Amino acid sequence: MTTLLESRLEEHATPTAPHVRLAPHLLDCLRCPGCSTDGPLVQDVRAHGAEVVSCTHCGSTYDHPDRILNLSNTAHSANPVFEQEFDDWEHNAEHYIHEPNSPLYQLLHTRKTKTFGITGCDAPIVLDLGAGTGYFSHYLANLGCHPVTLDFSPKMLQAGMKSYDLPAAVLYATPPLPFRSESFDAVIANGMLHHCKAQGALGAVLSEIHRVLKPGGMLYVFDRNGAWAGRCLHHFVLRIKELMQNRLTASASASRHEPDFMLEDLQSVLDAGFRIQRQRHISTLPTFATIVATNTLKYAGWPRLASTCQTLARPLLGILEQGLAARCFTVEQCLCLSKTTPESANERRVPESTTPRAVRTNRGRHT
Ligand SMILES: C[S@@+](CC[C@H](N)C(=O)[O-])C[C@H]1O[C@@H](n2cnc3c(N)ncnc32)[C@H](O)[C@@H]1O
Ligand SMILES: [Zn+2]
Repeated sequence: MTTLLESRLEEHATPTAPHVRLAPHLLDCLRCPGCSTDGPLVQDVRAHGAEVVSCTHCGSTYDHPDRILNLSNTAHSANPVFEQEFDDWEHNAEHYIHEPNSPLYQLLHTRKTKTFGITGCDAPIVLDLGAGTGYFSHYLANLGCHPVTLDFSPKMLQAGMKSYDLPAAVLYATPPLPFRSESFDAVIANGMLHHCKAQGALGAVLSEIHRVLKPGGMLYVFDRNGAWAGRCLHHFVLRIKELMQNRLTASASASRHEPDFMLEDLQSVLDAGFRIQRQRHISTLPTFATIVATNTLKYAGWPRLASTCQTLARPLLGILEQGLAARCFTVEQCLCLSKTTPESANERRVPESTTPRAVRTNRGRHT
């Protein structure tokens, strides 16, 4: 029989921090940012015990503290917009993680994923680009997908790792993308592409998305549609959010100055080699507004009132959002796009039937 002393000694002999294995699907799709070759990249334990990922071609090494693979590049340092955005997201991380903690948050994501029938069948490998705290990745992992969560903000990724234990997270600023060509079944850009537009990098990011997708792979874009009414309401909600952030002593975001994702941006997507499979407009506004308002109540010191409001609001929100899903009121356009071959270039024009009317009439009016 094992004595207490023996079992304590055994416990002591067992390392408390065993070798951290990175998800195999992540290692399989990596391309070394140092030499831009396909490596391969392998996990290594150095003599002094530090764990790194190293490139078998050029010898570059990358560490992965808390299972966040640090491939960070400095390419953005010359771009002031990029720098500003980076600072904003670093400041926003603690605040941003609160929204998914609301029980209403699921409604937003269920609407998006159901609209496009995103499922985990065949365990697809999905890149969650500009993933923030990685709620979408978490949702995809629960569906049976293998997500790779990429963001340039260490704090956003750290907050996400703490909350969701994401399977594979990468710290990196796109473009380019640190992945092999044709390695993903799908790419999701949720609230991401309008940031690339602000950074002057939309075309380059789109061609990188095209490169890393497998033939016939899918690109899902969820982004602001630029409709006037939707934008006004959205900024009103952001104002409440800012007030809440001040209360939490976090810094305010620059969101009010972000560009929208307009018709010409959709044309850039098609020019990069994608074809529209489906296009929808959804209003996530009532849910988003309620989350912000009830979180405000919660942090103001009335958690019970906040949860009562959430319970009462839940059944109403779905109905309300469907009623508001007219283009002029929507906040987001949802695009389901498939990768095309260069030969089908002449099919890439924006079909008139899918042209969002509100976007067209409000061109040039954004703040
Ligand atoms: C509006 S948030 C969306 C976050 C997430 N997709 C979600 O739906 O919750 C935009 C995210 O994009 C990230 N981001 C912006 N530009 C980036 C870039 N060039 N490379 C990597 N991440 C970027 C920001 O750090 C931020 O987390
Ligand atoms: Zn290398």
